[in-house]
Amino acid sequence: MVEEHFTEEEKNKLPKHVAIIMDGNGRWAKSRKRPRLFGHRNGVENVRSVVNTAREIGVPYVTLYAFSAENQNRPEEEKSGLMRLLEEFLKRELNAMLRDGIRLRAIGDLDGLPEFANRIVRETIEKTKHNSDWNLTLALNYGSRQEVLDAIHAYSQSDQNIGQKPEWDDFSQHLQTRDLPDPDLIIRTSGEFRLSNFLLLQAAYSEIYVSPLHWPDFDRTAFIGALRDYVSRERRFGKTSEQLFSLQSS
Ligand code: FPP
Repeated sequence: MVEEHFTEEEKNKLPKHVAIIMDGNGRWAKSRKRPRLFGHRNGVENVRSVVNTAREIGVPYVTLYAFSAENQNRPEEEKSGLMRLLEEFLKRELNAMLRDGIRLRAIGDLDGLPEFANRIVRETIEKTKHNSDWNLTLALNYGSRQEVLDAIHAYSQSDQNIGQKPEWDDFSQHLQTRDLPDPDLIIRTSGEFRLSNFLLLQAAYSEIYVSPLHWPDFDRTAFIGALRDYVSRERRFGKTSEQLFSLQSS
């Protein structure tokens, strides 16, 4: 059993931004002798449950690795099935997003998605852009190395940067995550200990939590378990425990 209630002290330590690598849909389906898309469909259902739990508990930013640039190498049938699920999800959730003040953002190369998926993602971003109560970001056709190369290119195009030593705060404004805080916690399901080209620079100080559960099984209780694990950790950002303690008590 996981204790669902967070004390005020624990609430103050909750992550602001949780980014999730939703792995294991295929294995989940295979273990039930069902097609991979059945796993993805159940994965989408789980997105709703985890998003609702994050909102309820007070984690204001969630970013989901829904489709990596490398996923483009998957069979056409699986890719188009995933894109249809994405379309269905966004159509079905739009009213709830508007009602609940949820702003959708996306990172990744949207132009590399099929036209219908590109369109619905862009439309949903546009329709929710004035919302500010809660923040859902989908990484779609996303790869961190490409994002960094694009940022270097954009940074170096600006006249004022020529010959200057880059400062992180200026450079990071060229990343696609410029509107988001860095992820405090990165969760990966299905027991793999890898970042798989996800938010590599933004993860510099992130805590990482790996769950053995496949994504469709990573339910509310499992998510709360990950948050509980996070609040029990001490984040030092390179400082000693003693330095942190004296900062907190001053
Ligand atoms: C990894 O499982 C999961 C994906 C590649 C896609 C995740 C996508 C969704 C949950 C649905 C779309 C998302 C939204 C927000 C509508 P895998 O196929 O790599 O599993 P495996 O490693 O067991 O084969």
